[in-house]
Amino acid sequence: MIYLDNGATTFPKPECVYEAVDRYARTNAVNAGRGAYQSARDAGEMIRDVKKRLTSLCDARGQAEIALTPSVTIALNQILLGQRWEPGMTVYVSPYEHNAVLRPLHLIKERHGITVRELPLAEDLSIDLEQMKQDFSDAPPSLVCVSAISNVTGYVLPAREIFTAAKKYGAFTLLDAAQAMGLLRMRFAELRADCIAFAGHKTLYAPFGIAGFFIRNGVDLMPVLTGGNGIRSEDPSMPKHMPEKMECASMDTVAIRGLQASLEWLKGVDPWAIEEELTGYLLERLAEVPEITLYHAPPGALQAGVVSLNLEGFRANEVAAILDRENDIAVRAGHHCAGLIHKHLKNQKYDGCLRVSLGVFNTKDDIDALVRGLSAIDREILKSIDHNILRGNC
Ligand code: ALA
Repeated sequence: MIYLDNGATTFPKPECVYEAVDRYARTNAVNAGRGAYQSARDAGEMIRDVKKRLTSLCDARGQAEIALTPSVTIALNQILLGQRWEPGMTVYVSPYEHNAVLRPLHLIKERHGITVRELPLAEDLSIDLEQMKQDFSDAPPSLVCVSAISNVTGYVLPAREIFTAAKKYGAFTLLDAAQAMGLLRMRFAELRADCIAFAGHKTLYAPFGIAGFFIRNGVDLMPVLTGGNGIRSEDPSMPKHMPEKMECASMDTVAIRGLQASLEWLKGVDPWAIEEELTGYLLERLAEVPEITLYHAPPGALQAGVVSLNLEGFRANEVAAILDRENDIAVRAGHHCAGLIHKHLKNQKYDGCLRVSLGVFNTKDDIDALVRGLSAIDREILKSIDHNILRGNC
């Protein structure tokens, strides 16, 4: 298989991650924070070490705590549902947001009567910062949520500029770094984010099952999930302090060991440089494909290794199904759990778009194979595709 779906999850993982996970599962996969024996203490120490490594990845020492969660969707739910909402509050999201943000906000809107607005886009689909400032002044933000990198076009959003403007109104600022942590250099102090949510299994190259969020010192959230965490078990309330207030349930220590290994591995790799070179090549080669429409970052913005496309005359998932069957190429087609941006991309007639998302283990040969596969697609091949597969449009 030629894997070009790293936006969904990076695959494969570095060899050292597989080795660490396997060894840990066999030798030390106990519950952290629940026992005084050596293995449990070692698991607790490993978790502290992982948090330290994440803190230094974002230069957040002395500025933020980290809460670990089983997935970034859970992290974003905890942050959003953990706010003290009141009717009439205004939330701004970028049109590039994922359902992990949009659906919790929809629920909050139904429960609390908040207003959710989209940040304005310029013609080239970059955030229109001037119009945004005007919008903030007309309807001041209570919370602003932005993705660090679009999972559809690879656009690196101007999060710092957006949050700096939002902070003039005292808004809570949330960065969804699911597609960015470990890939994009982030400095906590400069970003002006109150929380940064991250996924282990994407650009951090760790296994599924571990994610979390940075929370700026002094920022308070209400607990959304409660339960045991080994701290003051006789107390029916969650601990009052961060990050323990937000952490309950047994942690996946095996996945965390995988994250520890991937964080060590990342010290010797520059994923951005690798993706930048591959993405330049991808865009150059895709331009050769007949009747193609490309969706990428706006001119002048940073472009991560995610590019989407459509072929004239085909629905996006038809192209994906053909690439899978004819070329053993794995890509994701449809709306990528990011419904808002597609209306701006005007791709309704294609039912979304087909996304190519790169990782550090891709090569130019993978891209050449993709371009060959795309160039060979015709309506005859489509007739022979199993239509049950085509129904799965997301
Ligand atoms: N959010 C993931 C993606 O973009 C699953 O595919």
